[in-house]
Amino acid sequence: MAPTRHYLMCRPDHFTVEYAINPWMDPSAGADAATAVSQWERLKGAYEELGHKVSLIDPIEGLPDMVFAANGALVVGGRVYGARFANAERAAEGPAYLRWFVENGFEKVMEPTETNEGEGDFLTLDEVVLAGTGFRTAITAHKEAQEFLGRPVVTLQLVDPRYYHLDTALFPIDGRNVAYYPGAFSPGSQEVLRRMFPDAVIASAEDAAVLGLNAVSDGHNVVINVEAGDLALELKRRGLNVIPVDLSELRKAGGGPKCCTLEIRA
Ligand code: ARG
Repeated sequence: MAPTRHYLMCRPDHFTVEYAINPWMDPSAGADAATAVSQWERLKGAYEELGHKVSLIDPIEGLPDMVFAANGALVVGGRVYGARFANAERAAEGPAYLRWFVENGFEKVMEPTETNEGEGDFLTLDEVVLAGTGFRTAITAHKEAQEFLGRPVVTLQLVDPRYYHLDTALFPIDGRNVAYYPGAFSPGSQEVLRRMFPDAVIASAEDAAVLGLNAVSDGHNVVINVEAGDLALELKRRGLNVIPVDLSELRKAGGGPKCCTLEIRA
């Protein structure tokens, strides 16, 4: 049995694609909130079937990307490092997520000085936090998070605009190993990843392009976009239980299962 996880999610009641802040978003094509809600409900149901706890934050009208809860904060050891969004369109989400943590009794809450998009760019393993930079989160935020959390933060340089957040290019399979798409990283960061994770699952360009790396693993079960076929096979080969989900509507905004999921680590 995998230990139970606690996730924060935000129902996409106000979801739409009305601005473009990443290459996945096409405002002229739009997106359908009702379809997004039903896909999101199945994702939430999958977590609950696994025995995980899901808490909800109220969606705010006019913040269509608020469904992507991963960007709202980074929570490790009960310490809540708030988000400060790179784009004006999402700026109001930072204080909204921080308020949720304060109202829900979290005492160690930090309002950040540096630009960062929470778990979009910070992924927590047992001994280190991996941190992306290049598109959204500033490298100065990596330092700020390290100081606040008291955990080593390892900087990784993202180079492909389609993989603008670390969680679009890499996910922790468990506390010690990861899956990733090398093409999303600079040569130096690819070398860092090879050194740190010699046994990593390497994803293909095709599986990355359906946001297959935007997956959520509890160490035993991996919730992953249904289109990422080869990646799912390799995870199964390694003994993981794969739970495919269809989040095609949310992908129109550049998001997948992980983007919708903020892990609260007590
Ligand atoms: N449209 C959102 C943005 O570009 C998508 C965020 C996806 N979230 C994530 N954790 N990768 O900011």
